Amino acid sequence: MRKICFICLGNVCRSPMAEFIMKDLIKKENRTDIEVTSRAISYEEAGNDMDTRAKETLERNHIPFTKHLAKRIEKEEKYDEIYVMEEYQISYVKEIVGEAKIKRLQDYDIEDPWYTNHFQKVYEQILDGCKELFNKMKL
Ligand code: 4NP
Repeated sequence: MRKICFICLGNVCRSPMAEFIMKDLIKKENRTDIEVTSRAISYEEAGNDMDTRAKETLERNHIPFTKHLAKRIEKEEKYDEIYVMEEYQISYVKEIVGEAKIKRLQDYDIEDPWYTNHFQKVYEQILDGCKELFNKMKL
């Protein structure tokens, strides 16, 4: 089982969107060997559901999702790969989990839509990153 975790600041916008987008790609290809989750680097939104604007964006783009509970990543968690949204998040994650395999999802920072409200733009950037990642996992 390959365990993947997506990370953002609050775990209510970008990383849960990435989680549900990736789960949709996995389901459509009937892959049962990949497990996906998402986490925050902060406790700011811990226990909260996905942001309403993120849910609306997923609905508009026909991506199914379930109830979400925001969580910060913790030291004892083990993943094969961790994907962050912004470069600065790599060092935060390294400090929490040690030298895990941590990369940025895209080769640029995916902005925080919680502040900018650019949810569709961010959705498309995450979808593009997830598709590329998923295609590499087919090899
Ligand atoms: P996310 O967006 O990192 O994409 O989940 C944010 C959500 C909440 C906060 C910051 C970013 N916050 O500070 O509460």
